[in-house]
Amino acid sequence: MDFKKIASVVEIRNLTTSYGERIIQDNISFSVKQKEIFALLGGSGSGKSTLLNTMIFLKSPTKGEVRILGKDIWSLNPKDALEMKLNLGVLFQFGALFSSLTVLDNVMLPLREYTYFSQRDMQELAFMWLVRVGLKKEVANLYPNELSGGMVKRVGLARALALSPKILFLDEPTSGLDPKSAREFDALIAQLRDLLGISVVMVTHDMESVKGVVDRMIVLKKKKVFFEGSLEDLKEQMESLDAFLESI
Ligand SMILES: Nc1ncnc2c1ncn2[C@@H]1O[C@H](COP(=O)(O)OP(=O)(O)O)[C@@H](O)[C@H]1O
Ligand SMILES: [Mg+2]
Repeated sequence: MDFKKIASVVEIRNLTTSYGERIIQDNISFSVKQKEIFALLGGSGSGKSTLLNTMIFLKSPTKGEVRILGKDIWSLNPKDALEMKLNLGVLFQFGALFSSLTVLDNVMLPLREYTYFSQRDMQELAFMWLVRVGLKKEVANLYPNELSGGMVKRVGLARALALSPKILFLDEPTSGLDPKSAREFDALIAQLRDLLGISVVMVTHDMESVKGVVDRMIVLKKKKVFFEGSLEDLKEQMESLDAFLESI
């Protein structure tokens, strides 16, 4: 696959999602461009996580397409679906580290699962990712309960990046962090995007992240995409940007 020719890394086309009879997204469309930091915004319960989950093989759509890197991911055969999954890095809201494994083993998990690298190579790679996300090598031997909230997120990020994905998905990455750690995390995401050329799709309700690092966004409201564009676009459309952002 030649990714350079694909302008939109994620393209959502006429997507409807539901749980049973209850519709969460009703025929929505939008796209995420290459190397963007793209935010999914909306009130609590507006379906941000549900939408994110359709992009990472966790929630199948009721109707419509989730096209990633040019392919409708929900119609791939198992082999192509596996290949696609290797392009997607995911950091869940609470880090989702295994408490019985050290930091190093947590980061090595995807390498163990999906590669045939030697133990030494996997360790070396895991160390590299830990350093890249701003952690010291000594952290490798700690267990998750010995880490601060910000460190847990970074370890989760290192694990999400372990297989060098093309797209990084983050669900509320700065929630639960103090403001300073949250801004540091934002800066790290921007740095990784620049350094690695990855695209980032994140669910957030952190307006400082939106103002600081997000290139474009959608705002979900009443099962629809209420807005798609940059903060500048939003400013033009809203009388009071802050009041609008507060109201989300
Ligand atoms: N597995 C599920 N089964 C049934 N309803 C769900 C499930 N997951 C989420 N929901 C409901 O779908 C709606 C959207 O949830 P969610 O996507 O988690 O919203 P957000 O992430 O924006 O807070 C909520 O009303 C939630 O209760
Ligand atoms: Mg959510």
